[in-house]
Amino acid sequence: MNAPTLNREWIPADLPNPGWDELAHLPGMQPTRFKMWRTIKFLQNPLGAMRSLVDDYGSVYRRQDFGGWGVSLIGPDANELVMFNKDRIFSSDLGWTPVLELLFPRGLMLLDFEEHRVHRKTLSVAFKTEPMQHYFSQLEAGIARGLAKWQKGSTFRFYPAIKALTLDLAATSFLGVPWGPEADRINQSFVDMVQASVGVVRKPLPFTAMKKGVDGRAFMSAYFAREIPKRRGVQGDDIFSQVCNARNEDDELLTTQEIIDHMNFLMMAAHDTTTSSITSVLYFLVQHPEWQDRIRAEITAIRAAHGGLTYAALAEMTVTEMVFKEALRLVSPVPSMPRRALKSFVFQNHLIPAGTQVGVSPMMTHRMAEHWPDPERFDPTRFTPENSRGRHKYAWVPFGGGAHMCLGLHFAYMQVKQFFFALLEHNRVVSDAPLGDIERDFQMFPIPKPKGGLPVRIEAL
Ligand code: HEM
Repeated sequence: MNAPTLNREWIPADLPNPGWDELAHLPGMQPTRFKMWRTIKFLQNPLGAMRSLVDDYGSVYRRQDFGGWGVSLIGPDANELVMFNKDRIFSSDLGWTPVLELLFPRGLMLLDFEEHRVHRKTLSVAFKTEPMQHYFSQLEAGIARGLAKWQKGSTFRFYPAIKALTLDLAATSFLGVPWGPEADRINQSFVDMVQASVGVVRKPLPFTAMKKGVDGRAFMSAYFAREIPKRRGVQGDDIFSQVCNARNEDDELLTTQEIIDHMNFLMMAAHDTTTSSITSVLYFLVQHPEWQDRIRAEITAIRAAHGGLTYAALAEMTVTEMVFKEALRLVSPVPSMPRRALKSFVFQNHLIPAGTQVGVSPMMTHRMAEHWPDPERFDPTRFTPENSRGRHKYAWVPFGGGAHMCLGLHFAYMQVKQFFFALLEHNRVVSDAPLGDIERDFQMFPIPKPKGGLPVRIEAL
């Protein structure tokens, strides 16, 4: 079995860590001694805070938080520069490492360049059409089982309910584990890991979220290590079995440690993002019932033509897809993405030194009036083919772009379409909560979730 490789020779040995002195020439924040306070204020309302930073300083600005100094680059051109990364200036590994390394080391997003390319290609087999068709069937059964348990006619908080459902769906479609006590234990460990990765305390001290997260990782790693030999050489319809049997360009299987790292990361990358996006779709649908009706008309047509939703018919859910895209524009599950510059570069006449922590922001790009007229208005018709024509390729980036573009985006589209097909065919969803102000209704960072849990009622039609 191959030994794990730690391929970071592309990091210059003398990569500096630019601070105030090196970034003083840029527009932006002044130094403060109260970095933690500044970070807390920011996190209370990231959207409002970033809006004022862009208003005050423009689309390239210096910022400081408890992690130190960095530079934000806002807009489609910035996204293209950083995500497409033509000149190999930006490291995703060094950008994400401070956030994710303790719990999700060596996940795909924490690899760079050639090593990343090789691993990404190997993992891609799990997202080809044939395995996707298997996940489709598992998701369909799981969604039907989950929805049957939700009470109709009385108000419940949607966010925790969909979070529990997507976890259960992951146990089957990602791991091939049936619902039950084992899936529950796995789900809990996994929730602890995700919780810890966004916690403030970064050391596994007793009683902290980080301690629970580290214990969760140990449990998951032991689970994967036990299971891998059983899955090797065996045809399985879940993502884990696919990854266990995936071969790289040299026809080698991934090592046990590589599989553990990839699986932990994949589950993390999929879970809160999908939960968040399904929630925001519903958030807009309860405010715009006419779009529920349009989706239902689309479902009715598919039912009439195919007898139900088939894998091939997913492509016909164009209305649902437009609604999904508009929800992702307004509430992006990954509001900003970090990178670290390996070389100095110039952007919009600003010299950014090597070593700088750089951030790009789907959340802000998606609100730029020059690309999205009347940006706060929910309007799925922005995504008709005619209205999409001529738009900057990097103006809509909820799934990122370039080499690190989300590997699971088709899985996400599929799951979201399947969920709303099942939910809306014979029901409408209403909410009595006073909704309508995204800044007030959502906690945006690290991954958006509705502050009140999104109380809704499902009414049978
Ligand atoms: C609506 C749901 C989702 C959203 C909005 C989303 C968003 C993203 C974004 C923005 C990135 C790139 C981050 C960066 O470049 O720094 C990413 C990467 C990734 N996502 Fe997703 N994701 C979603 C669902 C999923 C699902 C369901 C899976 C797996 C089944 C998945 C697996 C991955 C993986 C493996 C990467 C790393 C790709 C790489 O580095 O090459 N994601 N995702």
